[in-house]
Amino acid sequence: MSNVKLAVIFYSMGGTNYQLAKWAAEGAEAAGAEVRVLKVEELAPESVVEQNEGWKATADATTDVPVATSADLEWADAIIFSVPTRFGTMASQMKQFLDIQGGIWAAGKTVNKVVSAMTSAQNPHGGQEATLLSLYTSMMHWGAIIAAPGYSDPAVFSAGGNPYGTSVTVGQDGKMIEDVQEAVKYQAKRTVTVAGWVKNGNE
Ligand SMILES: Cc1cc2nc3c(=O)[nH]c(=O)nc-3n(C[C@H](O)[C@H](O)[C@H](O)COP(=O)(O)O)c2cc1C
Repeated sequence: MSNVKLAVIFYSMGGTNYQLAKWAAEGAEAAGAEVRVLKVEELAPESVVEQNEGWKATADATTDVPVATSADLEWADAIIFSVPTRFGTMASQMKQFLDIQGGIWAAGKTVNKVVSAMTSAQNPHGGQEATLLSLYTSMMHWGAIIAAPGYSDPAVFSAGGNPYGTSVTVGQDGKMIEDVQEAVKYQAKRTVTVAGWVKNGNE
């Protein structure tokens, strides 16, 4: 039984990163963590979201998912981010969420959070690693401890072998091309395990 508290924080327009977040939650719960699945706030105007069938469907499907707050970050020992690739970097909605954490950052409350990240993109070489690195750059500024999966489990290889964090390609139909479920669950377990070492080693 783990005493780790994990926040899984996602942004999703087409549902992919919402699904990745739910799989991460399952993996973390199986590892004994207490989990909160949280979305970041939408920045696009409602009129734009309404005009896009897939975007609206995701907005509707996630209506009851709580919006992540600074208090959630303070609560969490570990954080897994899941965010689509946008022009080779994280979606602005996630960046905005990071950018409003100056208060807890200044108070030293982002230090030693154990983090990892996941992403999706439409092309196999569409910027997945760059997106994860952009997020991890901010995590270094937070003093967080990045627990990337590396090649520490066979599940990483069978999901395409991204050692920075699980990534998946999304087809024109919006469906995931690779089967990454096991890799996501493994990544969640690893993030929780490392967070347990950090948390309990400090007591
Ligand atoms: C504005 C915009 C920019 C995008 N940029 C990229 C990109 O640089 N590379 C890529 O492969 N896919 C790109 N995509 C596709 C998204 O990454 C893809 O739709 C997303 O990963 C699906 O995740 P979601 O279902 O959680 O929204 C872009 C999509 C949009 C809307």
